[in-house]
Amino acid sequence: MVLENYKDLKNSEKQEVASYFNGTGFERWNRIYSDTDDVNKVQKNIRIGHQKTVDDVLVWIKDSNLIEQSSFCDAGCGVGSLSIPLALMGAGSIAASDISESMVNETRLRAEKIGIDMSKMKFNISDLENLQGSFHTVICLDVFIHYPQKAAEDMVRHLCSLAEERLIVSFAPYTPFLALLKTIGQFFPGPSKTTRAYILREKGIVQAAETSGFSVLRRKLNQAPFYYSQLIEFRRSND
Ligand SMILES: C[S@@+](CC[C@H](N)C(=O)[O-])C[C@H]1O[C@@H](n2cnc3c(N)ncnc32)[C@H](O)[C@@H]1O
Repeated sequence: MVLENYKDLKNSEKQEVASYFNGTGFERWNRIYSDTDDVNKVQKNIRIGHQKTVDDVLVWIKDSNLIEQSSFCDAGCGVGSLSIPLALMGAGSIAASDISESMVNETRLRAEKIGIDMSKMKFNISDLENLQGSFHTVICLDVFIHYPQKAAEDMVRHLCSLAEERLIVSFAPYTPFLALLKTIGQFFPGPSKTTRAYILREKGIVQAAETSGFSVLRRKLNQAPFYYSQLIEFRRSND
């Protein structure tokens, strides 16, 4: 599909994101998404908040009783914080992809270390725009922070085109409070400032999914100081 608004997200900006997550960003987020004590207070809070998001997704998926028959796409998989527990829960298959080679390699390494059945996992170094295929469930957690509003809406439409039944996304929601924090530089403080952080209006995200034939099944706002993430599960509408 043509991502018309993707031009809002300049190629140079995407390159910056990729090289950040292959370098200092990888080192930083690999520590945040682990149980090492080598994190500061802000990073620890981000870890706690992010874990709430991952746990909610796993509960929602468990609720639906479709794990073993289902194919999953974990788009922007990071170090496998979702893909790995999903595999342990018995997911039919998981396609884990990320723009960062370091992130994908770390996901593979962690999965191997834990003894996951690798025949069920596929790894791919790819940005979201180039993802192809058809999956029962597509999940994209905390990646839209790198997408301005229109590009994020385009991306929702693209991810809907890959999802047979279900799309789960999370993003930093636009609220006057977060907008203020962002303005004064307190939102995603520290080294992550090296990449731009976008906060998104939920209405546009929901409308993008609705025009692609999906509707909201449930939503949850997860917060910890320095972590704000709106999680939404969309289901393909029957009508
Ligand atoms: C904050 S991490 C979240 C990782 C994972 N989804 C999770 O929740 O554990 C953001 C991830 O998005 C990836 N990313 C950023 N922009 C991307 C893009 N355009 N396409 C694919 N992955 C991207 C980064 O490399 C990084 O691994």
